[in-house]
Amino acid sequence: MADDDRLRDVADDRDFQIGAAVAAQPLRTDAAYKKLLRNEFNYVTAENALKMGPLRPEEGVYDFTDADAVVNYAREHDQAVRAHTLAWHNQTPEWFQEWDHTPGQLENFLRDHVHTAAGRYRSKVDTWDVVNEAVADDGTMRENLWYEALGEEYLDKAFRWANEVAPDTDLYYNDYGADGVNVKSDAIYDLVERMLDRGVPIDGVGLQMHALHEKPGIDSVAENIRRFKDLGLDVEITEFDVAYLPEDDPGDQEARWEKQADFYRDITEVCLDEGVDTMIVWGVRDSDSWIPGWFENLTGDPLLFDSGNDPKPAYDAIKETLANYEA
Ligand code: XIL
Repeated sequence: MADDDRLRDVADDRDFQIGAAVAAQPLRTDAAYKKLLRNEFNYVTAENALKMGPLRPEEGVYDFTDADAVVNYAREHDQAVRAHTLAWHNQTPEWFQEWDHTPGQLENFLRDHVHTAAGRYRSKVDTWDVVNEAVADDGTMRENLWYEALGEEYLDKAFRWANEVAPDTDLYYNDYGADGVNVKSDAIYDLVERMLDRGVPIDGVGLQMHALHEKPGIDSVAENIRRFKDLGLDVEITEFDVAYLPEDDPGDQEARWEKQADFYRDITEVCLDEGVDTMIVWGVRDSDSWIPGWFENLTGDPLLFDSGNDPKPAYDAIKETLANYEA
């Protein structure tokens, strides 16, 4: 592997998709950000632009400006696209949260949303996270607005509507905290098995892999991937980042970055061992990460590039693993 090989080239050689979550704003204004994005990644997902809130600023109005910017940039640079996400409990439009709807109105609203968004990008995106985070941490169904109005069937409907307008797009269920075998991933396994029994067109399960507090055990991640694959589903790592609680942080930056790189390396190896061909990190540089804004107590340098646009040990770890892996 030559030092000047780009991460995306090394990934291409292995038929691997290495992706990053992308924000629309720096795509317009930040040349260094754009350069890293197009040089190093062969896969892109929109961090926020394709969520319902950003797409639906007012009742009856769709705004695709940011979503188009991300999707078109990716296409221009020969990057595959994951669209995130159609039905979620977070980031719904503000006007909508105050809307006193009936279950029937809510169903019509979701159908229109899925048809419009998934239909618009049918030839431009490879994958949709159709439903995000439908299961609570204790393994019960999350009692979100969709579930309260439509029951578990909201998932079936969302997947079927997406499939109606985008039959060639891979349709995923996506969740956090379900990376290894645990109560939550058990419940997700049962949920997607029920959906498959009902003939729902689901292609895969996204493991977010926000390794923030506890890190899942590597063997447990492998076992979890295997059981979803045994159902006939694909698995992708969809929102990878690695941070530390103060008590687990080795202290100085060098040690922290090495420890973080070890975890990225281990998960890359698990992916290659288990036939997972896609890994997406949740942002490009540490300064782009959502972590500092959301988790005050975590050490906030979770990504592959530092805030000065330089690659970190985690970047090298992934690249070396992809280059040198032997089954
Ligand atoms: C996060 C974004 O990174 C933030 O910018 C936004 O403020 C909140 O959402 N799980 C998901 C992602 O599925 O959509 C979330 O993204 C992170 C957790």
